[in-house]
Amino acid sequence: MVKFARNSFKEKKFIIFGGGFSGQFIANEIRNLGCEALTSSRQIQKNTTSFVFDSLSSVLPPENIFDGTTHVLSCIPPDKSGKDPVLSRLHNKLKSLDLEWVGYLSTTGVYGNTFGEWVTEKDPVKPLQDRSKRRLQCERSWLDSNLPIQIFRLPGIYGPGRSTFESILKKNIKVIHKPNQVFSRIHVADIANAIIYLILKINNQNFKQIINIADNYPTSQIEVIEHSYKLLGLKMPKPINFDDAKKLLSPIALSFWEENRRVSNTLLCKDLGYELIHKNYKSGLQSCLEIIKEKKII
Ligand SMILES: NC(=O)c1ccc[n+]([C@@H]2O[C@H](COP(=O)([O-])OP(=O)(O)OC[C@H]3O[C@@H](n4cnc5c(N)ncnc54)[C@H](OP(=O)(O)O)[C@@H]3O)[C@@H](O)[C@H]2O)c1
Repeated sequence: MVKFARNSFKEKKFIIFGGGFSGQFIANEIRNLGCEALTSSRQIQKNTTSFVFDSLSSVLPPENIFDGTTHVLSCIPPDKSGKDPVLSRLHNKLKSLDLEWVGYLSTTGVYGNTFGEWVTEKDPVKPLQDRSKRRLQCERSWLDSNLPIQIFRLPGIYGPGRSTFESILKKNIKVIHKPNQVFSRIHVADIANAIIYLILKINNQNFKQIINIADNYPTSQIEVIEHSYKLLGLKMPKPINFDDAKKLLSPIALSFWEENRRVSNTLLCKDLGYELIHKNYKSGLQSCLEIIKEKKII
């Protein structure tokens, strides 16, 4: 983990909409730097660092949480109509604040299928799935929001508690072989660390509004699963050919196999100088495994 000077973040207050997997992880990293970070949830939580927000109900965040807020990050996916849950309910509120930075977690699904080719932020967006079309609609709403917005396009997110290990241990993994199919990935620690790194670079003239955060090594899902079984010391089941597996997959799971992309991180890592914590899945999985062992899950 890059060591940031605690005082560069002094007196900043973050509101993170969507305290799910990434939102919580990012909030914790920000708190480790000495800043306040509140996260939203649709249900009341016991801790004092969370507040309730549900765009589909009339439950809006209490007014006082916005006092002194300098940074806002949304980790909430689009609603079913393609509206952004945060903007649809809180746009005016956010505009009334003196915000230094607003971040939005998007997906690399907006690029559509590149048939295995590399894709950069400069390439045209061609969303294939309806959910990716809705995502693009949300990105555009944020870009038009008159807020100091920075958008992060993310591939498959994994990390402690959400990796192939959990799927293997819960026995709900499908080992599927589809030749020449690759997926890009990112460890959640790199999402958090890259975002903090970029916030600290805000005054730099080289500000970029849309940035991919992906690791260096897109690869097949089966390679990752095989490595995970090896690390666990277990025998991987015989792979199922994709054509046979189709019948076993849910429509949403199947839709992920319709896209074949290598997501480039050149802008983030070369042009903007961010150094990945986990350059590839092997490094990321090793760190997930250490946490599983620490918690004595295996
Ligand atoms: N998972 C991936 O592999 C992946 C890949 C690329 C991009 N993304 C995107 O990156 C973002 C973060 O991903 P994640 O996997 O960390 O998300 P996650 O764990 O699924 O968390 C989503 C958060 O959004 C909140 N939420 C959902 N609908 C809401 C609504 N209508 N009103 C208020 N809050 C709502 C959830 O509230 P509760 O806490 O109450 O459930 C949760 O806190 C999401 O936009 C996701 O689509 C994910």
